[in-house]
Amino acid sequence: MIKIGHRGACGYAPENTLKAFELAISMGCSVVELDVHVIQGELLVIHDESLERTTNGLGLLTEHTLEYLRQLDAGEGEQIPTLREVIELIDHRAEINIELKGPDTAVPVNSLLLELCARGWSASEFILSSFNHQELALGEPQFRRGALFHYESEHYFEVTSRLQAWSLNLSLGIVNQQVVDSAHEKGLKVCVYTVNEPEDIQRMRVMGVDAIFTNYPDRL
Ligand code: G3P
Ligand code: MG
Repeated sequence: MIKIGHRGACGYAPENTLKAFELAISMGCSVVELDVHVIQGELLVIHDESLERTTNGLGLLTEHTLEYLRQLDAGEGEQIPTLREVIELIDHRAEINIELKGPDTAVPVNSLLLELCARGWSASEFILSSFNHQELALGEPQFRRGALFHYESEHYFEVTSRLQAWSLNLSLGIVNQQVVDSAHEKGLKVCVYTVNEPEDIQRMRVMGVDAIFTNYPDRL
C-alpha cells in the first residue's frame, strides 16, 4: 500500500509547508499530497480559502495581495509556499499529488507543470485530483487524475470514466469492499483519505486499497 503524506506529514509539522513536505520524504512517502489556490496568478499551497486556521493572517485568501500572504507565518515560522517551491524542494524524490482546491487552478497548474516537464520533470511525477470534477477535467490529460469524493455516490464510475481517471479517491467514511473491488475491476486505483489510526490502516490493507493519505506516515 502506497503511503501519501497528507498535506506533507501534517501530523508532525505545519500542514502544506516545506517543513511538512521534507518530513514526509524523510518518513518514506513515495507521494506527497498538497492543496492549491491561485492568487494574482501565483499558485499557493494552502488548504483553506481563509487564513485563520493555519496562519497568523485574517480573512479570505482572495481579499489579500500575494505580498501580504507571503509574509504570513504558516506555523513554526514557515511561509505559505508556492507550488513551484514545493516541486523544487521535492526535486524528484517523490511523486506529487496536486489537489485543485481553489477555483480556476487547473489552467495555471497545467502551465507550471508543462514548463517543468520541458525542463526535465516527467508527467508521471504528478497526479492531479479534485472534488471539483469540472475543474479536474481541465487538467492536461498527460497527468494522472484522481476523482475525489467525500459522499457516497451512485455515479463514481460515470465520473471516473468521463475523466479517464487513474484513481477513485474516497474518504475513509465511505469506502467499502464492494467499491474497492468494482474500482479494481475497472482498472482504477483506490486511494483513501485520511487514514491515521493503526486499526484503520490495517483495515485498508485488508480491503486491498492501493494508497492512503495519512498525516502520520511513520505509522505504516
Ligand atoms: O486528497 C485527499 C484529501 O486531501 C482530500 O481532502 O480536505 O484534506 O483536502 P482535504
Ligand atoms: Mg487535500
